[in-house]
Amino acid sequence: MAFFAMLTLGAWSSKGKVPSAAEGEKLFNDPRLAGSVNASSCATCHPDGKGLERAFENPELISVINACIAGPLEGQPLPEDSAEMQSLKEHVESLGGE
Ligand code: HEC
Repeated sequence: MAFFAMLTLGAWSSKGKVPSAAEGEKLFNDPRLAGSVNASSCATCHPDGKGLERAFENPELISVINACIAGPLEGQPLPEDSAEMQSLKEHVESLGGE
């Protein structure tokens, strides 16, 4: 576990990016997310987090985010431990209870 954490932290710092909900919000609104070349962003279908109110409870959260990236966004699924995915996850989790 500690080894994993170190790897993950190493990957983040080597890119100079620290995951945050604020960064996740930007990615959520970015139509270029994950190599997507179409006009859709997460916010196209989930404006103001629509439909994601209970997503923080979803044990498959990363998989469903990647399903929405690979599906409607036509992008490349993000590695679970990437700063982008961790930021998106934090942002989606922050939408809970609204
Ligand atoms: C073309 C429309 C569309 C786009 C674009 C889209 N989604 Fe979705 N998303 C859906 C639909 C439809 C569902 C399944 C029905 C639902 O739960 O609302 C869903 C479900 C989800 C869920 C599961 C919700 C739950 O309660 O567990 C998450 C999380 C999610 N999307 C995140 C994202 C993220 C992050 C993006 C951007 C990378 C994104 N979606 C882009 C349509 C979209």
